[in-house]
Amino acid sequence: MKLLTTTKELTADISALKTLGKTIGFVPTMGALHDGHFSLVRKCKSENDICVVSIFVNPTQFNNPNDLSTYPRTLEQDTKKLAELGCDMIFAPSTEEMYTTEETNNQFSFNFGGLDQVMEGPNRPGHFNGVVQIVSKLFDLVQPLRAYFGEKDFQQVAIIKHMVKVMGYDTIIIPCPIVREASGLAMSSRNQLLSPEQKVTAAQISHILFESRQLIQCQSIPQVQSWVIEQINRVDGLQVEYFEIVDRDTLQPATTWNNTIGCITVHCGSVRLIDNITYQTSNC
Ligand code: PAJ
Repeated sequence: MKLLTTTKELTADISALKTLGKTIGFVPTMGALHDGHFSLVRKCKSENDICVVSIFVNPTQFNNPNDLSTYPRTLEQDTKKLAELGCDMIFAPSTEEMYTTEETNNQFSFNFGGLDQVMEGPNRPGHFNGVVQIVSKLFDLVQPLRAYFGEKDFQQVAIIKHMVKVMGYDTIIIPCPIVREASGLAMSSRNQLLSPEQKVTAAQISHILFESRQLIQCQSIPQVQSWVIEQINRVDGLQVEYFEIVDRDTLQPATTWNNTIGCITVHCGSVRLIDNITYQTSNC
């Protein structure tokens, strides 16, 4: 496995692999890797000749400086685990390698077709601009045939699919299911910032979301929405930021249960956790 840190090395290696006709699969990450990330890497390995993983804590997608400075960084451990999984190439650049000073200081702007007007969009101003800025840069460098994204970040997947369409990339976006701890807690790099007691508390988020599935036969969307918010806010140590039940394709507030997903952000102490639950797929 190669560990590359410069765009120059990466471009040279990718171009050599393309000449050999190899298919390239790509998993972009911010490191502090866990089984959720590894599920994407395994799928990428199984579907492509070459598996490239990027590890880059992207400063332009953090709207909260404290969140950026406390974000866990575990490169040595990540590298070891990726080698065990048979990853072919890690790209772990510095901020200076990815951005000019001008790019870091001025916000990148992108037309999201309304997908950024809900949920994480208004709650994390500038976040998705930063995500599209870095993912488009990485796609330009890696030129993947397939790229793997987790459905834990459901809105991010929708935005990346939109980016691919609007910017004309050939890359196929492969959404991958949420991986959870045995407790039900959605795996996240930020879980490392939770105390053992907070981890137990945070598992209530998924329990309440799963329980809410039982209600949809006899309750309206606003009723289920209020129920989930109320139940979670009742748990000591949890505070809901938003819980929206939206159409899985447009991400606009749902009016019927068909093709719906509930997306939530909850604060557990100072840690911001996201999760979601599919209520109905479109063919139900
Ligand atoms: P990061 O949070 O490191 O996540 C990298 C990828 O792993 C994302 O596609 C995310 O959805 C997926 N992932 C995280 N937890 C998961 C889980 N429990 N189950 C399944 N997949 C999971 O998302 C980002 O980084 C960044 O925004 C990035 C796309 C790398 C751009 O900087």
